[in-house]
Amino acid sequence: MSEPVPHAAAVRCFDTLDEVSAAVAREFVALARDAIAAKGRCTVALTGGTTPRRMYRLLGAEPLRSEVCWRRVHLFFGDERAVAPTHPDSNYGMVRDALLDAIDIPPHNVHRMPAERADLDAAAAAYEAELADVFGRAAQGSPPRFDVVLLGMGEDGHTASLFPGTPALAERSRWVVGVEAAGVATRRMTLTLPVLNNAAHVWILVSGAAKRQALRQVLAGDGEHGRLPAAFIRPASGELTWFVDRAAAAGVTG
Ligand code: 6PG
Repeated sequence: MSEPVPHAAAVRCFDTLDEVSAAVAREFVALARDAIAAKGRCTVALTGGTTPRRMYRLLGAEPLRSEVCWRRVHLFFGDERAVAPTHPDSNYGMVRDALLDAIDIPPHNVHRMPAERADLDAAAAAYEAELADVFGRAAQGSPPRFDVVLLGMGEDGHTASLFPGTPALAERSRWVVGVEAAGVATRRMTLTLPVLNNAAHVWILVSGAAKRQALRQVLAGDGEHGRLPAAFIRPASGELTWFVDRAAAAGVTG
């Protein structure tokens, strides 16, 4: 697997997570407006975790809620834990509570990852088929191109459910794979680098001092130790933007 290399990326630093959330929400409204004007729809891969929750809530409330034509937006998920959508650890459940229940989006435009199924490989294949259908691609052909992929980053540099040293991180042909519990809290399902790096825009939201070391390593392209999964996020023909707060960026950015 090739070493990650520094990638031209924009780093937008804000004093607080609230300010990060407001900035990402505003950018989302603008991006959705432009994508819908250009193509009639906007395709999004949402991140889980806790960092994006405030941003999702802002998009689900006025004034921003009414500025998005939700019936023309398709929401997918970058990853999901192998739990029911009603489980407190469910990324879908977090997004449903923070955003989906507040917006008028057609149910068929929300593409939940069925990671709770016993056969994780079959569930991943089913999600690939759903991606192929919505994007009009042949499954495992050229990857779908999202208008925007939202990501977070863990303290170990993982992103989506791509964890250091795992087969999922090394996957270069399948679009969606299952992730066994080894080394991670639970079994999961995740989009792979071929999909994430094919997006028109990738936004990585990072908050808190606990992420500082990983953020510093990834932004420095620290090859020797740079096997941090987030360092492999390098959109081939898209734009990567880090939205970080000062607690995470202290000593990393100017
Ligand atoms: C998940 C996420 C994961 C998350 C990071 C950061 O399923 O947990 O997809 O990649 O973005 O772990 O999580 P926090 O935002 O909670 O710090």
